[in-house]
Amino acid sequence: MTDKTRLYSGMQPSAESLQLGNYIGALLNWKKLQEANDAFFSIVDLHAITVAQDPALLRSNTRRTAAQYIAAGIDPSASTLYVQSHVPAHAELAWLLNTITGFGEASRMTQFKDKSLRHGSDSVTVGLFAYPVLMAADILLYDAKIVPVGEDQRQHVELTRDLAARFNSRFGETFVIPEADIVKETAKIYDLQNPTSKMSKSAESHAGVIWVLDEPSVTAKKIMRAVTDADGGVVFDRENKPGVANLLTIYSVMANRSISSLEDEYAGRGYGDLKKGLAEVVTGTFGPIRERVLELLADPAELDRLLAQNADRAAEVANVTLAKAYDRVGLLPRPRR
Ligand code: TYM
Repeated sequence: MTDKTRLYSGMQPSAESLQLGNYIGALLNWKKLQEANDAFFSIVDLHAITVAQDPALLRSNTRRTAAQYIAAGIDPSASTLYVQSHVPAHAELAWLLNTITGFGEASRMTQFKDKSLRHGSDSVTVGLFAYPVLMAADILLYDAKIVPVGEDQRQHVELTRDLAARFNSRFGETFVIPEADIVKETAKIYDLQNPTSKMSKSAESHAGVIWVLDEPSVTAKKIMRAVTDADGGVVFDRENKPGVANLLTIYSVMANRSISSLEDEYAGRGYGDLKKGLAEVVTGTFGPIRERVLELLADPAELDRLLAQNADRAAEVANVTLAKAYDRVGLLPRPRR
């Protein structure tokens, strides 16, 4: 047992590489928070399959996502880094929570509505509909107090809070009510070609998506081609200069510098110089991560061993909460054999 605050977050293994928004909006924050907190980080493969995935690719992407967590600085001996499906309690608690979630309540989730539109109503499944309930189960199983995520997950954490409070009031104190931890400045990183839309793994075109594992030359080219404006001034103005504001945000976080010091440095120098500087910072950060990921992937048995060990640690915590919740609801305890 530890008296550190419990923290929970996760990412979907839904692409061969994480994108810059995942790195800045989530991973960087996780890395900072893991030291002072008792952190659980999952690779949410059960969430990923709520839209169609190729099985071989899903397996490979799950290992690749784990390798990216580690290469980006998540320490699997200090934090618990595991694959969601390795801990069956997630699916089991999700079922209990499904039974107290309103149909209307789930229908109001904006990510569900967006994804339904994107994938077309024929391929929208009950799994996709129940996605946020599974996410609530993830968080509640670990008594997490803090959930570091990007802005797009705020509504899901709100639902988690509602479900926890509802369960507690119906069945007695069982779950800790969690809180989203969203860093305002970096809560939403935008697509470089379309700087009013969120950067996303599932964007239609990848021209404005920076992948953590891309070749540095590809990344640099995408940054040099980022959409800006005709004004020419390197000034942070989200409303009128969304492209430049996005580049400055990324630069500021990745170089650990203030926006105003960047505005000063690039005043009068134009966007080409700003982009060149940013490309150096991004490739300088992602280059070593990429190399470390390739090293980790070269030894899948070791990676699997690590994930199994961490899943055991996660299951120990999760099973206690699940047993408590089953009991509260009135499910008959399974006789010991
Ligand atoms: P996923 O895989 O879509 O995203 C992982 C994390 O990256 C953040 N993010 C961004 N942040 C800033 N700008 C962006 N452009 C950007 N794109 C993505 C997301 O907000 C997220 O924090 N449902 C979750 C996965 C999940 C989860 C959980 C998270 C499942 N169970 C329990 C926390 C707790 C998701 O969509 O991840």
